[in-house]
Amino acid sequence: MLDKKDIENKLKQYNQEHIIEIIEKMSSEEQQNIIKQILEIDFEKMAELYKSTKIKQEMEEDQITPIDYIDKQKIDSQELKEIKQIGEQIIKNNEYAVVTMAGGQGTRLGCNGPKGAYKLDIGENGKYIFEILAETLKKSKQLYGVLPYWYIMTSNQNNKQTIEFFKEHNYFGYNKQKIKFFTQGELPMLTEEGKMVVENGLIKTGSDGNGGVFTALKKQKIIEDMKNKNIKWVYIFGVDNIMVKPIDTVFIGLTIKQNMQIASKSVAKAYPEENVGVYCKRDGKPGIVEYIELPEKMRIQCNKFGELIFGDANIISHLLSLDAIEKISNQNLTYHIAKKNNLYKFETFIFDGFKYLDDMLVMRVKREEEFAPIKNKEGIDSPETAKKIYENYYNVI
Ligand code: UD1
Repeated sequence: MLDKKDIENKLKQYNQEHIIEIIEKMSSEEQQNIIKQILEIDFEKMAELYKSTKIKQEMEEDQITPIDYIDKQKIDSQELKEIKQIGEQIIKNNEYAVVTMAGGQGTRLGCNGPKGAYKLDIGENGKYIFEILAETLKKSKQLYGVLPYWYIMTSNQNNKQTIEFFKEHNYFGYNKQKIKFFTQGELPMLTEEGKMVVENGLIKTGSDGNGGVFTALKKQKIIEDMKNKNIKWVYIFGVDNIMVKPIDTVFIGLTIKQNMQIASKSVAKAYPEENVGVYCKRDGKPGIVEYIELPEKMRIQCNKFGELIFGDANIISHLLSLDAIEKISNQNLTYHIAKKNNLYKFETFIFDGFKYLDDMLVMRVKREEEFAPIKNKEGIDSPETAKKIYENYYNVI
């Protein structure tokens, strides 16, 4: 264990000496807490990340090429039968798990607690997002007699609340032995000058993006747990899409039949400016260009049929073999820089891990069946738009 002097030297070495003064004014309990936190921070990495904020991030357009997709609606009935059986077997063998990424902060939605605890005005009494997800997953029991293992990724900020929320609601009738929570990693946020900020006695941090799922699965020994349970396939999805359909034997079966380690569902982009990442090949490897990074030219580029060339939207529905997860978890994903409340936040994206595999399957599904994101308080991608899609599909009166 480093003593106080070592901590001071470290802070000085990395231009964070302003924190020394703050620590000195703290109670001894507070001091212990912040020192514990400081010991876990990789200052060298933070210095590198700060440097990267000063370099203009430019995307090399010429390396981005389109990727093929398979339209789920166009699979012929013979093949459908065959792949359904393959997928069904995986679920029935208990080799299937799902991961819900619920570590985001829901800032745009304006909710304080976990996003999954958000209640939508659906049905007579309303429905929580987590409740809807539990209902979707429970269909597996009705159809195939087996519930998938359900892993829920939280963040330090919402982990306790999420666990309490599930307890309070009796796990929405899900077998609690099959649910496991794990927390994702965090990184300090930095000012324009590269300084860390102390707030409520601790250095202000932000979750490390949904790409943090790989490191979290590894560090929290979830990969190990999955191996012990003989899980072979894992469907990873975001908490904020209430139409997500992870119990999909066609999707699982097709992925396996095509000999892929990774597959993602997409929907046709609604309009060029829609805020969605699009599937593509980057340097010949599978991946996504996120909406904030997609150059205007590519946003609107069409083929001779008038369809967008980069038109397959990411709906955060990714199926990976456990081997692929393990492989990616041993890589260092690129960080993307975001500005939140004037502070730099560093995030990795889940799909940046896909390039470590040679190829992937993109299966296009119907938007009205599988995509109703809840991102904003009002307007586009809000509780109101999601409610409409949900009620239409499930015939809620
Ligand atoms: C995301 C996708 C985008 C896609 C769009 C569709 C990423 C990086 N971007 O955009 O390509 O078209 O959804 O709706 O996947 N999350 C965590 N921990 C984090 C950050 C996020 O668990 O640290 C979860 C969120 O709870 C959410 C999901 O990841 O479920 C995506 O969140 P966010 O990073 O905000 O991406 P979007 O901008 O919504």
